[in-house]
Amino acid sequence: QKPVTVSRLQQMKQNGERIVCLTAYDYAFGALVDAAGVDVVLVGDSLGMVMQGRETTLGVTVDDIVYHSRCVAVARKRALIMADMPFMSYASTGDALRNAGRLMKEGGAHMVKLEGNGDQAELVTRMSRAGIPVCAHLGLQPQFVHKIGGYRVQGKDESAAENMLRDAKLLEAAGADALLLECVPAAVGARVAQELHIPVIGIGAGPECDGQILVLHDMIGLTPGRVPKFSHNFMDGQSSLADAVEAYVQAVRAGRFPGAEHSF
Ligand code: KIV
Ligand code: NA
Repeated sequence: QKPVTVSRLQQMKQNGERIVCLTAYDYAFGALVDAAGVDVVLVGDSLGMVMQGRETTLGVTVDDIVYHSRCVAVARKRALIMADMPFMSYASTGDALRNAGRLMKEGGAHMVKLEGNGDQAELVTRMSRAGIPVCAHLGLQPQFVHKIGGYRVQGKDESAAENMLRDAKLLEAAGADALLLECVPAAVGARVAQELHIPVIGIGAGPECDGQILVLHDMIGLTPGRVPKFSHNFMDGQSSLADAVEAYVQAVRAGRFPGAEHSF
């Protein structure tokens, strides 16, 4: 089992092999998800909600991500570990380099993810030159919840979609190694994935992205209350967590998930 690398993800995009991603935050689930063949494990700042019970991701700290990433890293045999840069941990270049360094050195992450539009391009270049693989994050950006005034689908009108595509290209040119696209119309997801050379990982971004990701707790039916439309409970019809995660892996690889009912 060869470990998944940034160049392997690139190769998967070129070959049209779908990239399967999932969040995990601890050793036990890290091991389960890795063994199921998930290619990228995200230690997301969604841990603010699913681990800590917060309303938003804003309170998550670099220490939190380092701690959870290290737990996952102990279990990891194959998957690439991506760790989220928390809110305000990359407001300056110095902070970004120092905190991304911590996620990699202390947390064992292989790539970091950060929110923000085309104006992050310069920062992405600085990080990239320092040897930090970066995944950009466009579309719905939960760290901007108070600027946006809620969680909703982004890029719905033509000009917003054009801006998103422009930003995606800027970030790619700046050295981003992947792009995550959250809550955008399926047509926008398809277009961005088609026009970019780097892998585009979707969540609520339609079936035509290069890869897919979900929040683990949403897809095993562990999230209390409402689950987003783009998710699916893979425990349905399965008798174990391992079977549910394997069903997700197979559904994404085969292009059976997401379907139109999970898309905007
Ligand atoms: O924090 C997270 O889990 C994420 C995913 C929703 C992509 O950023
Ligand atoms: Na996140």
